[in-house]
Amino acid sequence: MTAPDLPAELKAALEARLQGVSRNEVAARAALISKTYRDGGGSGAIASEADALAYALARMPATYAAVTASLNALVGIAPEFAPKSLLDVGAGPGTASWAAAEAFASLQSFTLLDANAALRALALDLARGSTRLRDVSYVQGAARAGLADLEAADLVVASYMIGEVSEAERGALVAQLWTKTRDTLMIVEPGTPAGAERIIASRRQLIAAGAHVAAPCPHDGACPLSPPDWCHFTQRLPRLRAHKQVKGAELPFEDEKFAYVALTRAPLARRPSRVLAQPDVSKVEVTAKLCTAGGLNVARIARRAKAAYAAARRWRWGDAVEEG
Ligand SMILES: C[S@@+](CC[C@H](N)C(=O)[O-])C[C@H]1O[C@@H](n2cnc3c(N)ncnc32)[C@H](O)[C@@H]1O
Repeated sequence: MTAPDLPAELKAALEARLQGVSRNEVAARAALISKTYRDGGGSGAIASEADALAYALARMPATYAAVTASLNALVGIAPEFAPKSLLDVGAGPGTASWAAAEAFASLQSFTLLDANAALRALALDLARGSTRLRDVSYVQGAARAGLADLEAADLVVASYMIGEVSEAERGALVAQLWTKTRDTLMIVEPGTPAGAERIIASRRQLIAAGAHVAAPCPHDGACPLSPPDWCHFTQRLPRLRAHKQVKGAELPFEDEKFAYVALTRAPLARRPSRVLAQPDVSKVEVTAKLCTAGGLNVARIARRAKAAYAAARRWRWGDAVEEG
């Protein structure tokens, strides 16, 4: 399991990048970028070096933690998966590439693609000091045109990206991501109802195109959740000092809500159930909301079933468990 906090090399690179830069200015830029996101805008507001750094400090720790949690779920279910090549689409400051490098020692080649010149420049600067990432290839361009010229990779990741593409274009982009996937495609989105809906729509589209779900779902059928419920998970992450300053936040941690799907070319043999909310533990029983191969199930594991109760007490939201 990879830890949710940024790797030491990345933290050091971010700190170094901040030297001599006014934290107040970066905080002001970060506030503006966050407001643009809240108002439904995208990364278009990130235009300068200072903007890119502000984005990285304000959002990269959280998106890194979400991608890491998603990759941990994939590794848990497919421990033999050892990708050699990665394609990181909408790579921004390189978040998913850093997370994948930590999750898979097998990765040898990293190709990043993004339209944003300022984020690309920052990503290359951050990667320069990394043993694994210093030789990345980072293509600047629009996703659809850029992807057409790139080779397929064992693992393709689109993290916090497909929501920035218009609905009209999204289906074609998702189809193209799949054509560039040799083994596994991972899509990660914010854990909002809208983010989860984009994940469900992409999942549905690619299952129809022959994909299989590796995680989080234990089946390739229709999602059994219906509004106001939605499939999402949460990851707690520590806040760096600079991160707290830039966000004007006091708490030493934050919880990032995210939604994800990992789709594979070949079906996986193991299909454990997924814990869909933090289980309720009482002295009488553990009550857990599970997505199982047969649909939604609220499992009740009584204390008198000693071993099963002891195991269920350790379940956490997002875990894969052998219980239906
Ligand atoms: C919210 S950022 C996420 C960055 C990174 N993947 C992460 O998880 O931190 C979205 C990124 O997608 C890129 N992007 C959005 N639409 C794009 C498109 N059509 N072509 C290329 N890049 C795009 C933006 O430039 C931005 O860097």
